[in-house]
Amino acid sequence: MSDRPPSNARPSNFEIVCRTGCARLGRLKTLHGTFETPIFMPVGTNANVKLMRSDDLKRVGASIILSNAYHVAVRPGLEVIELHGGLHNFMAWDGGILTDSGGFQMFSLKNFRKVSDEGVTFVSPYDGSKLFLTPELSMDIQRTLGSDIVMVLDHCPPIDVGYTEALDATRRTHEWAERCLKRGVKEGQLLFAIAQGGAFEDLRRASARYLSEKDFDGFAVGGLSLGEPFEMTLRLAHATVSELPDDRPRYFMGGGSPRTIIELVAIGIDMFDSVYPTRLARHGAALTSEGRLNIKASRYRKDLSPIDHRCDCLVCRNYTRSYIHHLLNRGETLAGMLLTYHNLYYMFRFMERVRESILNGTLEEMRREVAEIYEERRG
Ligand code: GUN
Ligand code: ZN
Repeated sequence: MSDRPPSNARPSNFEIVCRTGCARLGRLKTLHGTFETPIFMPVGTNANVKLMRSDDLKRVGASIILSNAYHVAVRPGLEVIELHGGLHNFMAWDGGILTDSGGFQMFSLKNFRKVSDEGVTFVSPYDGSKLFLTPELSMDIQRTLGSDIVMVLDHCPPIDVGYTEALDATRRTHEWAERCLKRGVKEGQLLFAIAQGGAFEDLRRASARYLSEKDFDGFAVGGLSLGEPFEMTLRLAHATVSELPDDRPRYFMGGGSPRTIIELVAIGIDMFDSVYPTRLARHGAALTSEGRLNIKASRYRKDLSPIDHRCDCLVCRNYTRSYIHHLLNRGETLAGMLLTYHNLYYMFRFMERVRESILNGTLEEMRREVAEIYEERRG
């Protein structure tokens, strides 16, 4: 079923342009464009990045977004996506799309029922309908969606499981990765493996080593950013990265606050996704050159300054903190729209600075600055 030639007969889709320490500046080629890494991918689970039109996504600087194969396959259903000729047309987005496989929904959804070596059963809390997701089905769904980057189906256990359970999930993840590889992707789609290993460094290393030997286009660090302390995230991510091939892209799943990004870029991660900037926005918080601001706070009621005086986004050029504070207090949707626009604009300028600092060799300075502004990780 795989349409693609083996990797030694394919041109490499990832090129490293420059390095500082372990950090890398790279270029990743996909069906919908070539993207500079390190890169941030906003999350569009239900075939939309919440409160953002696709033209505005372009305007703020997004080039690739993350969506979810499982969610989209359940609602609206694959036949609706097929009618549109794929997910890009469906959501009027001609940039890149990476789709997560459904593996994480085992962890995050209450409607998850049971996992076996064959696959995962999900039961809808709305109508009781069942979906039996196998590695093969996840691949077929992502083929139909037309994703630029396809993720393998994995088993992501909670971070606090014991060794036996972590080992079992890791073994299953490896078997599933091989089944995904065997099922194959459409020509031009990239296929990424996901390393697991729970909270155990030896399992993390073994997982990365095992997957490295297979013909994947990139590798993800899974099963982290699940509420564990940041030091632990860094230590376990480092264990994984230390065994991944140097010449392939590395993606840290589900983390993407400024602090998380700068620390993980420094250990050699190239790709990030997170709901952090968009979710914060909907809760009334802004990312700024002074750190996180809660625009709901009463001190902004008569504040005539923009969200961030160092930002030149459309929102900061036109609206005051006072106005957005008012919208938040009235529960107006526009508040979330304006804050989402600004927060994403902020993230993409932040990523530009990260890439520049790798080029200029000033990543260490930027890292210290970011650690000062954002003391905690969050997201
Ligand atoms: N998103 C965040 N973490 C994970 C993970 O471990 N696996 C998958 N599939 N998605 C994720
Ligand atoms: Zn702004």
